[in-house]
Amino acid sequence: MAQDPIGLIGLGAYLPERVMTNADWAQRLDTSDEWITRRTGIKERRLARDDQTTLDLAAAAAESAIADAGLTAQDLDEIIVASDTPETYSPDTAAFLQHRLGAREITSYDLGGSGCAGFVLGLDIARARVRDRRRTILVVGVELLSRLMDWTDRHACILFGDGAGAAVVGASPRAARILAATAGTDGSQTDILGCPVGGTRYPFTLERAEKREHQKLVMKGSKVFKEAVTRMSAASRQVLAEAGLTLDDVDLVVPHQANQRIIQAVGQVLELPEEKVFVNVDRLGNTGSASIPLALWQAREAGRIKPGDLVLLTSFGAGFHWAALLLRF
Ligand code: ACO
Repeated sequence: MAQDPIGLIGLGAYLPERVMTNADWAQRLDTSDEWITRRTGIKERRLARDDQTTLDLAAAAAESAIADAGLTAQDLDEIIVASDTPETYSPDTAAFLQHRLGAREITSYDLGGSGCAGFVLGLDIARARVRDRRRTILVVGVELLSRLMDWTDRHACILFGDGAGAAVVGASPRAARILAATAGTDGSQTDILGCPVGGTRYPFTLERAEKREHQKLVMKGSKVFKEAVTRMSAASRQVLAEAGLTLDDVDLVVPHQANQRIIQAVGQVLELPEEKVFVNVDRLGNTGSASIPLALWQAREAGRIKPGDLVLLTSFGAGFHWAALLLRF
């Protein structure tokens, strides 16, 4: 008997209501709407309320994805959370989320530190776990970057926003089928992007805290830019080759929303018409691990995805990690 396709059976999202515009940043820092728009394409981003934590954002997105799947938290068999801004250093966000959702005592774990590639990697892991064990798995991408970043570092803080997106992965005739996935890592690039203070290499000390080093993002902007374009383009081609498809078959590309110029450059390398590339970085900024599920959710809500469409997700993150995945809706 043919098995049901494995893929996305529910999608959800949560965006904080508070909007921070470039003009708001310009009031706090030596920057301008003109600079931020020209270099990044970002106009505004969402910021979590002071009384919210990563868990609140993750739970809201998870609940909307579970409802979208027509399920309850009791139906889940596993929870995966991708985040670089976890609820606490230990235990991980997934433990808090299992309890908050009222799920059974199921396997729950974080994919932390893989930057913005974590959510797509989580979908690929979920697909394998559903195939092997017939499970229903919640995958969340969540980031509350505004809480941890240095608000005086104009090179980094203007890029980011808060939010959460989620998907339920399962086997169902109505699933948006995961056709293929690919992921990779180039660990020689650990120095170009990351937040190194707090681990064993650079333990957290009072001296570092006074200099706010734990909040400083190390980012070699132009190197990250080039790697991002190269890796997201290559991963896109690779995942299509694995599925025996070409870029002409793709209806919509949902890239990691780091910077409008990076997204445009990927589009140029892949020779994609603009209307085939989904962009929301102008309104949400870079939401890290939440970027892909938020964009996918917004694309579906905006009617940009029709039944039968082939959707390509492509992402990169600190590490340097990358991941791409193909969905047939
Ligand atoms: N406002 C005004 N001026 C600024 C700002 C700001 N917010 N930030 C930097 N500048 C200044 C710099 O000091 C520099 O001045 P100088 O020439 O006098 O030294 C000048 O602007 C140019 O700075 P660059 O860093 O060279 O600017 P660039 O064109 O490279 O743009 C940017 C910087 C936007 C960060 C770009 O390199 C980029 O997008 N890189 C990729 C970033 C990225 O995607 N990071 C990933 C984050 S995590 C993730 O998504 C996985």
